[in-house]
Amino acid sequence: MTEPAFVHTVRTAYDTVAADYAALFHDALSANPFDRAMLGAFADVVDGPVADLGCGPGRITGPLAALGLNVFGVDLSPEMIAVARRTHPSLRFETGSLLGLDLPDAGLAGVVAWYSIIHTPPQLLPAVFAEFARVLAPAGHALLAFQVGNNQPHHISHAYGHDLSLDVYRLSPDHIAEQLADAGLAVHARLVRKPEGEEKTSQAYLLARKDL
Ligand SMILES: C[S@@+](CC[C@H](N)C(=O)[O-])C[C@H]1O[C@@H](n2cnc3c(N)ncnc32)[C@H](O)[C@@H]1O
Repeated sequence: MTEPAFVHTVRTAYDTVAADYAALFHDALSANPFDRAMLGAFADVVDGPVADLGCGPGRITGPLAALGLNVFGVDLSPEMIAVARRTHPSLRFETGSLLGLDLPDAGLAGVVAWYSIIHTPPQLLPAVFAEFARVLAPAGHALLAFQVGNNQPHHISHAYGHDLSLDVYRLSPDHIAEQLADAGLAVHARLVRKPEGEEKTSQAYLLARKDL
């Protein structure tokens, strides 16, 4: 499959910032009870293998493993995957794309997309959610986190101490819930919280379940 142009841009940007991103966010969960609550609920309802899709340096993969999940990570960025492997040597991390996962049909009990759908143009998200539905077993769960907004691109030219070029889409929880439902993933729980610290927007967390 030919790669859409934005995929190259995202990979290059995260290769550039991987080490600094990992250093900045390595302990961010400890300051965020709502993130931990959603991850904990996900760990409670999931029974079987889980993929952390767009795992970055594995800052969510590690805590999910600590909660008892059999979890591995996938990310576009080879530099992110290198950091994840160094940081979590007992866990499996592979390069790959949300738009075409190198995973069998119906093999997973859960997928996590923690701030990893935010760089995909919204019109391409139905293809991403179709991939989530394909790799999940019936009654498998998907957990998503993202910044809330109106689906318009927000361009970033500097981040984590580096010049780069990257679009971020702040997304409507209602719209994402509709797109998930269209893919056969019904949202069962959602949390939207106000921005905290350096955050500029509200943050959304959706837990969806694949139809039986
Ligand atoms: C904001 S970071 C989040 C990383 C990690 N989930 C976390 O919460 O720290 C976004 C990550 O998603 C990855 N990503 C973005 N689009 C992707 C895609 N289409 N396929 C795979 N990974 C993707 C990026 O490479 C990057 O590592």
